[in-house]
Amino acid sequence: MDIRVTGLTKRFGSTTALSDVTMNVPEGSLTCFLGPSGCGKTTLLRVIAGLEDADSGAIMLGDADLSHTPARDRNFGVVFQSYSLFPNLSAAQNVAYGLECRKWSKADIRVRVAEMLELVHLEDQRDKLPAQMSGGQQQRVAIARALAPHPSLLLLDEPLSALDAKVREELRHEIRAIQQRLGITTIMVTHDQNEALEMADQIVVLNAGRIEQAGSARALYDRPRTRFVAEFIGAINTFTVQDPQTDPHLGTLRLRTSEPLASSTVGVRPEAIKVLGDAEEADNVFAATIEKATFLGNMTVLHARLEAAPDQPVVFEAHGPADGLEAGRKLRLGIAAGDVKDLA
Ligand SMILES: Nc1ncnc2c1ncn2[C@@H]1O[C@H](COP(=O)(O)OP(=O)(O)O)[C@@H](O)[C@H]1O
Ligand SMILES: [Mg+2]
Repeated sequence: MDIRVTGLTKRFGSTTALSDVTMNVPEGSLTCFLGPSGCGKTTLLRVIAGLEDADSGAIMLGDADLSHTPARDRNFGVVFQSYSLFPNLSAAQNVAYGLECRKWSKADIRVRVAEMLELVHLEDQRDKLPAQMSGGQQQRVAIARALAPHPSLLLLDEPLSALDAKVREELRHEIRAIQQRLGITTIMVTHDQNEALEMADQIVVLNAGRIEQAGSARALYDRPRTRFVAEFIGAINTFTVQDPQTDPHLGTLRLRTSEPLASSTVGVRPEAIKVLGDAEEADNVFAATIEKATFLGNMTVLHARLEAAPDQPVVFEAHGPADGLEAGRKLRLGIAAGDVKDLA
């Protein structure tokens, strides 16, 4: 079932951790809460889990209002960053624990534990204690334990952030594959944009306790509504525009956009900036000088200065070694009107 959160507010003393948060997690999807440290991701997850009471707002699972249901009655599976397994119980006993609490029969528990350990590829580790397993294996057990009682929602709080890069990559794929195979509605907290881009159906970008924007990776990348979102998801050049509503100018040049601008801040993704040949035209053409060229193998990162707006530096990329594009070189840069994004 889908999860709907409306008007959630949560304060800790004078800190407002969540401010009027409203969002929806569609059934069977994976939604990532993405944002910098301290923006309220964990608090939002804990309020949804019932581990923390909100000051106001509601949490609905389908048609059922869960706002005042205790955590143990919500039937949600929760996985934390690390060290959440019982250290004195084996992998199999950890997975069995929640089923014993729910008074499952011994026979049912045996079948379910075997099934869950197989799901996370740990059949051969069933009798190991947490301390005898790697961090990645421990997180797999934690996921198996969370999924064992058939939860209606899986909640993961930065489950990969304590793992090294290679294991993190593997587990990203594995969590996503398990989530899709089971079709379980899932919320995962992360501060890692790549993790969110790679795994999520929906990304909810949080900033200082508020939702900046929610949508698919593609929607947030193509149509960021704010500078915060544009800079948090991918890289972007930002420019200040004069007279945005009446006669938009970037420095001394008229700026063409596909729609009228509402704000004076615009963004252009690095890949939308093209080096033009002598006879080539574009909606917006800027004379520029390269200030720095950094060769990185598969691409060269170029820092340039626009003649029309020398105080607003531009960074873009060229494929491969980009012969001839060295510091001091003058060139023309093209930007299509549709690639100029209006940022609040
Ligand atoms: N138990 C608590 N007591 C006091 N302040 C808290 C508590 N939990 C979180 N906060 C504060 O609420 C804000 C959001 O924290 P948190 O949800 O943990 O952020 P994130 O998970 O995005 O890093 C922070 O300012 C944090 O210091
Ligand atoms: Mg957190």
